[in-house]
Order: sequence, then C-alpha cells, then structure tokens
Amino acid sequence: MRNRWYGIVLLGGPGSGKGTQAVLLASTLNIPHISTGDLFRGNLKQGTPLGLLAKSYMDRGELVPDEVTVGMVRVRLSEPDCDKGFILDGFPRTIAQAEALDKVLLEFGKALTGVPYLHVSDALLLERLSSRWTCRVCGAVFNKVTPPPREGCKKENCDGELYRRPDDEPETQKNRIRVYEKQTAPLIIFYAKRGLVVEISGEQDVQHVQLDMLRAVNLEIVVDEPSQKARASLVEDDC
Ligand code: AP5
Ligand code: MG
Repeated sequence: MRNRWYGIVLLGGPGSGKGTQAVLLASTLNIPHISTGDLFRGNLKQGTPLGLLAKSYMDRGELVPDEVTVGMVRVRLSEPDCDKGFILDGFPRTIAQAEALDKVLLEFGKALTGVPYLHVSDALLLERLSSRWTCRVCGAVFNKVTPPPREGCKKENCDGELYRRPDDEPETQKNRIRVYEKQTAPLIIFYAKRGLVVEISGEQDVQHVQLDMLRAVNLEIVVDEPSQKARASLVEDDC
C-alpha cells in the first residue's frame, strides 16, 4: 500500500505537456495538481485583484512577480489536501521562487521527492500551443493530435465551451519560450545538483510520456500488452 509522501515539481517549456501529465499523475497518486497558471486564470475568472494583476503579465507572456506568486502558492500548500503531497505545475519558475519553496517546505518539515523535466523542441512547442483548445469548465486540453469534438468538451460528460488561451497568440507564445529559457530553464541545473531531475522526452505520445513519468517518480509499472496502457501498481520501490 502507498504511504509515501510525494513532493513533485514538473519542469518543461510552455506547451511541453506539464498540465496534461500532471492531471494523469495526480489521479494515479491521489494528490493535488497545483498549477499556478490555472490559479491565476481562476482568479481572473472571478475578477479578483490578484487575477487582474496576473492578467497584465500573462497577456504579454511575462512572469507574474515572485512575491505575488510565492504568497499564492504558500497559501495553497497549507491546505489540508497537500498533507499527502502535491504536484506543482508551472511553479517554481525562477531561482528565487525555488528558494522560497525550499523555505516553505522546510517549515512544513518536508522536501521535494522528484523533478520530472519534459523536454520538447521549440518548434513542437509552438505547434502545440498554436493548436491548443481548452475547456472553460473542466480545463481539459485538446489539440490537433487529440482533436476536440465539434460540439464542445465532452470529457467525462462535461459539455463546457472550448476556447483559445489569450497567451497562445503567436507573439506571446514566442515571448513565453524566451522567458522560459532565460528565467526557468536554469532550474534544471538547480534541481539536478540535488539529484532530483529525470529528463523525459515530451515529444512521445501522451501514454508513453505517462509511463516515463511514473518511472521518474519511482512507481512500479504494469504495462498491459498489446494496448500499452499504463497502470501504476502503487507499490513503492526502495529508492
Ligand atoms: P502556465 O499556465 O503555467 O503556462 P505554461 O507553462 O506556458 O504552460 P502551458 O500551460 O501553456 O503548457 P503545458 O506544459 O501545461 O502543456 P499542455 O499540457 O497544456 O502559465 C501561464 C502564465 O501564467 C505564464 O506565462 C505567467 O505569466 C503566469 N505564471 C504561471 N506560473 C507562474 C509562476 N510560477 N511565476 C510567475 N508567473 C507565472 O499541452 C499543450 C498542448 O499540447 C495541448 O493542446 C495538449 O493537448 C498537447 N499535448 C500535451 N502532451 C502531448 C503529447 N505528448 N503529444 C501531443 N500533444 C500533446
Ligand atoms: Mg499548463
């Protein structure tokens, strides 16, 4: 039986598949998926001052200031569902945020357990972002590889409207990649020095990336041939 605590940070460029994989992993491990981008978009939907502030940065593909983001994550990590662990998607995004996360975890008496890094070429990132559709209700994402039904989301009986994220416009996409390279990519080395990083090719199909993700967080995996459908047995290895 699983009794292990998981503190997972997902690294990867915009469009590398962090959100897609975080949803799957969170469901397998039964721990929350915390996406700072989703938290900002949720605040914007509710018209909060935090959401309006975040929008002014997101629309340009720039990062929301560290102090704002760290404060929001700190509150979220203090919520009871994080007692069993968490998957952070889109945070930290700067060395300063990573150091702030260390401090928060130290206060909680915890430490990160793994940092899967999804590597995808810039050309493919741009292609994916250009064809992404997102559900307004459940947040499911689609693209030309996993095309959305014409009439709306339809994922698990959801009938939400699909929309294109404003920051998926071409100029903003390019700036997000530039910002990622400059401010976020240094985190790969930051966490690699602690032996936490496992690099995964995010260019494989979703199911193969999922298998690699399970290995990266040290879950034992059973593969059902010939469907290659991954099941994690939730048995820990000795690492
Ligand atoms: P955020 O929402 O975090 O965006 P992002 O990092 O740019 O990443 P995306 O959500 O665009 O992509 P993803 O990696 O989740 O890929 P997805 O699974 O959707 O941040 C947005 C903004 O918020 C930032 O620019 C910033 O302004 C602000 N912000 C957020 N966090 C912040 C922080 N910590 N500090 C400061 N500011 C912050 O997949 C993409 C597409 O590809 C989808 O269509 C999907 O269906 C498809 N796809 C996924 N995997 C595959 C696959 N294996 N094969 C084929 N298609 C695939
Ligand atoms: Mg995302």
